Amino acid sequence: MYVRSDPIMISKVFKAVILGAPGSGKGTISERIVRDFGLAHLASGDLLRSHVSKQTALGKEAKKYIENGQLVPDVLMVDLISEELKKLQGSNWLLDGFPRTASQAKTLHGKQPVDVVINLDVPAEVIVDRIKGRWTHLASGRIYHTEFNPPKKAGIDDVTGEPLIQRADDNPETVRKRLETYAATMAPLVEFYKSVGILETFPGRETNQIWPKVYDFLSVRIKPKTMV
Ligand code: AP5
Ligand code: MG
Repeated sequence: MYVRSDPIMISKVFKAVILGAPGSGKGTISERIVRDFGLAHLASGDLLRSHVSKQTALGKEAKKYIENGQLVPDVLMVDLISEELKKLQGSNWLLDGFPRTASQAKTLHGKQPVDVVINLDVPAEVIVDRIKGRWTHLASGRIYHTEFNPPKKAGIDDVTGEPLIQRADDNPETVRKRLETYAATMAPLVEFYKSVGILETFPGRETNQIWPKVYDFLSVRIKPKTMV
């Protein structure tokens, strides 16, 4: 017997990338995407920091670049992310912090073409102030801010009760270098995704203003778990 396949019933894996300068709110918006759309979140910076804290060979190599505000070489990043993506086969996912160069984007596109690229466009002067107040839970990557999103108890993660840290690359000098690195590398990356036709830019100064627009954009592409 012939059975017609209904296009709405076809389940396809949804793959997204979030781009933006250091401190633009990628991690903060990603947490909300995970909460409301159930995507698996893979943050390249969190993965690298975990390697650094465990003092793996990759961590020792990456540390030199991270603490100087430079990018870790493409070849190391592509291997690291490819291995992690293998573990997520069949799941919807969101990549935060990768790709970071046009070369990384082209490699990813050849292996695992993404459906959407969310580009956060936040002015640099807003960012420098934000990073000063950031506190991170290293094991999970959960992010807090002393004013915007404070933990219930200062210096302590709400979920695990473990101590929060300030990232080694969050001092003003390294932040300045990270912003310079971003400015020097982002244009070809953005151009690549524009040429593929999947880039959506969200300009703004405030995460709470940008977030409803990201939510509306995603909710016509993937079913939300909850209502905003
Ligand atoms: P990574 O960890 O990815 O850092 P980044 O891109 O510099 O971005 P951040 O994590 O600093 O910022 P975010 O956009 O996530 O902002 P957040 O939501 O935390 O990478 C670190 C390093 O690893 C790189 O420099 C590089 O060396 C290396 N690396 C990583 N990936 C690589 C790759 N693919 N290739 C090569 N090298 C790679 O927000 C910032 C703060 O602001 C938070 O405290 C938040 O609570 C707060 N905040 C958010 N919104 C607001 C608001 N509206 N008002 C006040 N505060 C706010
Ligand atoms: Mg981040």
